Amino acid sequence: MKNLKNALLLKQLYTLKQLGFRYTSASIYKESEPDLFLPDDLEKLKAQALQCHLCELSKHRTNMVFGEGDPQADIMFIGEGPGATEDKMGRPFVGRSGELLTKMIENVLLIPREAVYIANIVKCRPPNNRIPTPSEAHTCQPFLQKQIALIDPKIIITLGGTAYHYMTGDETGITKIRGTLLQQEGYTLIPTYHPSFLLRNPSAKKEVFEDLKKVKALMEAL
Ligand code: URA
Repeated sequence: MKNLKNALLLKQLYTLKQLGFRYTSASIYKESEPDLFLPDDLEKLKAQALQCHLCELSKHRTNMVFGEGDPQADIMFIGEGPGATEDKMGRPFVGRSGELLTKMIENVLLIPREAVYIANIVKCRPPNNRIPTPSEAHTCQPFLQKQIALIDPKIIITLGGTAYHYMTGDETGITKIRGTLLQQEGYTLIPTYHPSFLLRNPSAKKEVFEDLKKVKALMEAL
């Protein structure tokens, strides 16, 4: 929970700075530190994320977009962050790229969207759909890591370069790394293109089709 604690401490220090303090001792926060324990229950975790104001993104959100799907899903998709429609609806991938993602799940994996779990690197919309900053991704990471731990998927598909980068720390470009099966602790990670990239570059759909065929083969071997 170090990320959350650091973000909270930073927030408190900024508040003190705005109030005119030039010096303080970080140790004074120990007693008043709120409970940063993340619950072992998805609904309670969601309730906690709804209260989160640890980064700038929370200031501009209409809704926090926690994620949705089967809490026992074998397959999890991870995108970058909510867009305008998702922010309005409080649900992941419900705009145009969401429609495409749903088609990919239903037409290639041959399972309903409700059978997978869909989440994002950050739970609040970055203004103008900009890429989440490392600090925003880092602050939100404990929520996503806890979701992964609770859902315990066998396969995680990261959508786009940003989700891949923040999930692995690897800087390899998505064009090079997509379709690679990466054995992580407890699950196989497969990076592929983001549906919004496919909306702009429909010719890349065939590569995503190949990547999802690999997912299908893995699913059948489970
Ligand atoms: N793009 C994302 O990365 N996530 C969403 O939820 C919607 C669009």
